[in-house]
Amino acid sequence: MFLWIVGVLSLYVSLPFVKFLRSDAVSWHDRYVPRGNFTEWVHAQNSIALERLLDNFIDENGAILASPSRNEPDYYYQWVRDSAIVVNTLVKQLPAIEQNLQYDQLVHRRILQFLNNSFVLQRLDNLSGKGVPTSIRGLGEPKFNVDNTQFNENWGRPQNDGPPLRIITILNYLQHLNNTGKQIDHIITHNAKEGFLPFKVTKDIFDNILFWDLQFIVDEWKSENFDLWEEVRGHHFFTSVMQLYAIERTLPIAKQNHLLRKKFVESLVDTRHKIREFILDNRTGFISKSANHIISCPEIYGKRSGLDIATILASIYTHDGSNTSEHLDLFHVDNRYILNTLYGLTESMSDLYPINRENERHSKKHNLAAVALGRYPEDVYDGVGISEGNPWYLATAAAAEHMYKLARKFIEDEKSIPISPNDEFWKFIIETNSKDKFDVKYHSHAFNETIKSFVALGDSFLDKIRLHVADDGSMSEQINKYTGYNQGASDLTWSYGSYLNAYQAREEILAYLSH
Ligand code: NOJ
Ligand code: NOJ
Repeated sequence: MFLWIVGVLSLYVSLPFVKFLRSDAVSWHDRYVPRGNFTEWVHAQNSIALERLLDNFIDENGAILASPSRNEPDYYYQWVRDSAIVVNTLVKQLPAIEQNLQYDQLVHRRILQFLNNSFVLQRLDNLSGKGVPTSIRGLGEPKFNVDNTQFNENWGRPQNDGPPLRIITILNYLQHLNNTGKQIDHIITHNAKEGFLPFKVTKDIFDNILFWDLQFIVDEWKSENFDLWEEVRGHHFFTSVMQLYAIERTLPIAKQNHLLRKKFVESLVDTRHKIREFILDNRTGFISKSANHIISCPEIYGKRSGLDIATILASIYTHDGSNTSEHLDLFHVDNRYILNTLYGLTESMSDLYPINRENERHSKKHNLAAVALGRYPEDVYDGVGISEGNPWYLATAAAAEHMYKLARKFIEDEKSIPISPNDEFWKFIIETNSKDKFDVKYHSHAFNETIKSFVALGDSFLDKIRLHVADDGSMSEQINKYTGYNQGASDLTWSYGSYLNAYQAREEILAYLSH
């Protein structure tokens, strides 16, 4: 006997969906976000997120501010990671944006500026190393000033996730152009001005930008470096998975179009194999017999639980749309280690952050749903300095995206859902006394209910965001764990990008469910 715990929350699941970005769209600035009703809010918040994300570009050179905040904290810089991630979000929005002329030209220009800035930053000497072609070490530099000069203060460097994230974003853009019959040289010529992108065709982008970031992965994949949270030197699941995926995405494109030299392609194939073995090897410690979830950074396992939203980010950033990857299936959204990571984070944070405890009032059964998530349970960064950690918007939106993608995965697979009560994740979905594994048969009533539960669980995370965004819909980096108000860097670009990603994944699964 089992029953669906979050099924009751399915009141959030609204059909049919309204198309976002209407052509009569007006600015959301200085307006209240309609938070009274989840369905109305979820669409309005999407327009707000896009508008505010686009506000964070420096107009003249297209550098992307991590946040406009200039003090407490000073985030008025461009981070390689944040920029690549949010531009990737914009690339994914392009099909919708192109139907609506409001942002079409602007977004293409921003993406070209991103290419241009990538080219320029790769060539800057910095405290991680000399720029290319002298050295590729400089590519590990995590952040730069917004005028494209190097940042010369102490920092957790190098951070080796920047180059692979940049590769993925650029390839997604090229793929989008290809899918829609657009030519990069045409787009470049159209936007050309003095000093802008000294090249034109896809092959140039491979030779001048992608090649270097790939070479960086080939040379540096095994080196210790700082994690995406810029705090710990070691090896990081997120970074290794992004490196593997960047190569995985490159190979078919490069081989088909002879965009890279044969010898170099061979070294990529070899590196892919090595990174994959490294990630799976028990001695590395991402996967350990002593834990049911991924250990984010093995070097500090024990001091920390290993639970980290970065693991969920690794999974959702590498499982996007129709791009499948045989070498990454192991870290797909339905992988048990990935699912148990989400469960572990949610369980610990439902207790850790007082704003989550109000759930208890609703019903015991909802205990684990509707939780605002932070980076990792042991976090002490409060957005300005060190005290106590808080929930983060991007972490909470990532959990929602994970659940929407999980629903989609099972529908697309057209297979039964294998449920193992030993994997804690399933406590979210079903209540059962049995320890036996069982399958929820494809197309059965139970299957449909399970899918709906995933979507409802996703919505419960977004619903936490609904409660805590400012009245005008703005999102900072964090949510104060006691008061529920915005905390830390204001208008964090990555927060908006994460919301857009979650919303898009939600629209996609709802479209599936409606036919
Ligand atoms: C700033 C970093 O970006 C953040 O991730 C970190 O937690 C704090 N510094 C504290 O070191
Ligand atoms: C702190 C985060 O830990 C890091 O991941 C991010 O790159 C910077 N803030 C800038 O947003």
